[in-house]
Amino acid sequence: MEKTGLKIRVYGDRILKKRALSVKEVTERHAQTLSQMAQAMYETGGIGLAAPQVGIGERLVVIDIGQGLYKLVNPCVTKKEGQQSMEEGCLSVPEVSIKVKRAKKIVVRAMDETGKPLTLQAEGLLACVFQHEIDHLNGKLIVDYASFLDRIRIAQKLAELKERSDDESLPESRIKPRKL
Ligand code: NI
Repeated sequence: MEKTGLKIRVYGDRILKKRALSVKEVTERHAQTLSQMAQAMYETGGIGLAAPQVGIGERLVVIDIGQGLYKLVNPCVTKKEGQQSMEEGCLSVPEVSIKVKRAKKIVVRAMDETGKPLTLQAEGLLACVFQHEIDHLNGKLIVDYASFLDRIRIAQKLAELKERSDDESLPESRIKPRKL
């Protein structure tokens, strides 16, 4: 398969802090984007990926925890029950994990890649991933759940990631000085 060309945005990239826009009408372009996102997720070994993580400010997510692929448009949680705490990582915050408290059972409303409305129930890990990806659509990252001690523990790593993402936004000639 060809590479998707989608690049995973890393902590420090401003798009990760922005609220993604609702999709008004699901088109072929959205279906294609969702397929590319799924491919990018599999290539990077992720179990979920939200559009802002590949630089797209629309409410699209893909999820596969090993029980089948979900490709969702405008997902939102309509019911929450119970509580669970899991150690979460994120493709956009590599080498960092944070314990995040979330609802244990949820109901999610969304549309599929053809625009058909769906209602899904999830619990445990799947519920956790749904909530994590929907957070991305609202500009929220696992680091926003960090406790005071977490913040001390991950400060160095975050500084490194931020520096890396600042570097990448510079013109290429400034990253690698040309050899004369
Ligand atoms: Ni993530």
